[in-house]
Amino acid sequence: MKYRRIVILTGAGISAESGMGTFRDKGGLWTTHSLEDVATPEGFARDPALVHTFYNLRRAGLKSAAPNRAHFALAEFEQEARSRGSDVMLVTQNVDDLHERAGSLSIIHMHGELTSAACVSCGARARWEQDLGLDSLCPGCGRRGALRPDVVWFGEVPYGIDEIHDRISTCDLFVSIGTSGEVYPAAGFVGLAAGQGAHTVELNLEPSANAGFFSEGLYGPATQVVDRWLNALLHSGG
Ligand code: OAD
Repeated sequence: MKYRRIVILTGAGISAESGMGTFRDKGGLWTTHSLEDVATPEGFARDPALVHTFYNLRRAGLKSAAPNRAHFALAEFEQEARSRGSDVMLVTQNVDDLHERAGSLSIIHMHGELTSAACVSCGARARWEQDLGLDSLCPGCGRRGALRPDVVWFGEVPYGIDEIHDRISTCDLFVSIGTSGEVYPAAGFVGLAAGQGAHTVELNLEPSANAGFFSEGLYGPATQVVDRWLNALLHSGG
């Protein structure tokens, strides 16, 4: 395998065919909900019950969703690439757990996870699978009512950003899958990768806002294009 240090960024499009909604497509979450109300610290301070309801519904939705062919293809690719001596890091903007359930191992959830809660009082982060509410008890400090969804909101710093930057600034292949390229810092990753000479590839339903920055693009549903592109890479000697 020609590429030794691979970074793969995923967004909502990879989970669309698993029934998890995207944000900006027709009928997407930000066309039916106010982002300011449910995805900012200010919105949570104003109406925590509304925010809990929004994320409780999305967390509950995970139970009826299953990883699709694209998630499995990435997990299989990671294993195969590792066995050939290449390093693969998956950076996802998604808060679902479908990559883990498909078998991916090396993942950074830069926007947090639905199955985690964070305490605004003691800073503890805990696995959380049931509903969160105004009276939920923090397993770290025992305080009641201080837990919030462990999801990165607008205006907050994504998780793992230093490690992500380190990985991208030394990668030789950067692949972006199912993301609109509208939200920074993720939208800037392709520029960073291309700027230091990595091959850059976009796999998406349609060209994203950043399409012009990629050296290669393949367009169609993730369940069709991801598997095809990764297999071609493995079998091309590339
Ligand atoms: P978006 O909803 O902005 O974009 C989804 C992308 O997926 C679009 O470019 C679609 O064309 C593409 N897409 C849709 N269905 C697809 C399919 N079946 N196969 C392949 N691609 C498909 O979602 P993100 O780019 O992930 O952040 O959004 C980035 C961030 O904005 C999210 O993590 C979230 C949101 O606000 C936070 O909540 C902090």
